[in-house]
Amino acid sequence: MIANRVTANGDPARRSLSLGRSAAGRGRPAPGRLGGAIETEHVEIATYEILVNDAHARGAEEVAALLQQNLDEEKNALKLVSEAAQRIAREGYAQAAA
Ligand SMILES: [Fe+2]
Repeated sequence: MIANRVTANGDPARRSLSLGRSAAGRGRPAPGRLGGAIETEHVEIATYEILVNDAHARGAEEVAALLQQNLDEEKNALKLVSEAAQRIAREGYAQAAA
C-alpha cells in the first residue's frame, strides 16, 4: 500500500533537508536542497490529489481516506520546507545588510 511505503521509506523532502544540513555543515539546510525539497513536495501533492480523486471515482473510500492522509502529510511537509526557506532567506539578507 502506498501509505505504508511512504511511511517506511521516509519523506524524500525531509531526507533532502537532512542531507542539506550535513552538506552545509552549519546546522542549516543548503538553499539548493530546499528548492529541491519544495519541488518534490509539489509533485507529491499533485500526485496524491490525482490518486484521491481516482479512488473516490472508483468508490474505494477506504483507499481514498488513506491517500488523503498522505496528501495532508505532504501539504504539511511543503509548509514546513517553505517556512524554512523563508527563514533562511530572511537570515541571509539580514547578514548581508549587517
Ligand atoms: Fe513529501
